[in-house]
Amino acid sequence: MKILFIGDIFGSPGRRIVADQLQDIVKAQGIDVAIANAENSAGGFGITPAIAEDLFALGLDALTSGNHIWDKREIYDYIERTPRLLRPANYPLGSPGGGVVVVKQCAILNLQGRVYMPNTDCPFRAADRLLAELDPAIKVRFVDFHAEVTSEKISMGWYLDGRVSAVIGTHTHVPTADTRVLAGGTAYQTDVGMTGPYDSVIGVDKDMIVKRFLTAMPGRMEAAKRNVELHSVIIDVDETTGKARSIRRHAIQGE
Ligand SMILES: [Fe+2]
Repeated sequence: MKILFIGDIFGSPGRRIVADQLQDIVKAQGIDVAIANAENSAGGFGITPAIAEDLFALGLDALTSGNHIWDKREIYDYIERTPRLLRPANYPLGSPGGGVVVVKQCAILNLQGRVYMPNTDCPFRAADRLLAELDPAIKVRFVDFHAEVTSEKISMGWYLDGRVSAVIGTHTHVPTADTRVLAGGTAYQTDVGMTGPYDSVIGVDKDMIVKRFLTAMPGRMEAAKRNVELHSVIIDVDETTGKARSIRRHAIQGE
C-alpha cells in the first residue's frame, strides 16, 4: 500500500498547489491512500467545513490537524459528524471529534506533543490506548504527530517503532532531512514541512513576523503568498505485516 502524506496545507496558496498537483501525484506514484494535515488551510488559521469538503473532493481520504483545529468555531459541529477530519486524539475528554479513523484498510492516527504546546493528555499513552483498541486485522497504521520539539517527535518514532507503519511529524512547517525507516519497520520523519508559501516565516507574511520579534508587540498575522511549495512523503507499506518498505520525500515547487 502506498500512502501519500502532504504536510501542513497553509492558506489558499497551499490549497491551490494541492488542487493543481494531487491527481498527478496519485496517478504517477500509484498512491492508494492520500492524507494531508489541514489545520492551517483557512488563511493559516484553522479549517472551515467548506474547505474540508473541497479538500476531500480533490481526493484526499483523510485530513489531520493539530492545535489550530479549534480556530474556526463552525468546525466544532462539523468535526463531530466527519470522522475523516481528525483532531489530535490526546485532547482531553469532552473535545469534539476524534483522533483515529480507518480508511481503505489504513488506520490514521493523529496525536499532539506537549512541549511548548497546549495542555493535553499524554500522547504516548494515548497512542498505546488507540493501538490496543484498533482492529488487529488493520495492519497499516499511519500516525501524524503534531509537535514542536524535535526530541519529543523522535521519541514518539522510537516509542511506536514496530507498532505502526509510519510516524510523521507536522507543525514546525520546515521539512527535516531525517526521512528513514527505523529498525522495527516504522517510517519516520521529524517534520514533513509546509505546503504553502515559503517567502514567509512558516507561512505568515515575513515582514509582520520580523517586526514582532523586533518590537515584542502584537501584530496582525496574514498568510504570505509567494514561493509556494508542496511538501510530502510517500510511504510504501507491506500490507501483510504493516511494516514500511520505504519512505521518500516528494516536494514540488509552484510559482
Ligand atoms: Fe500546529
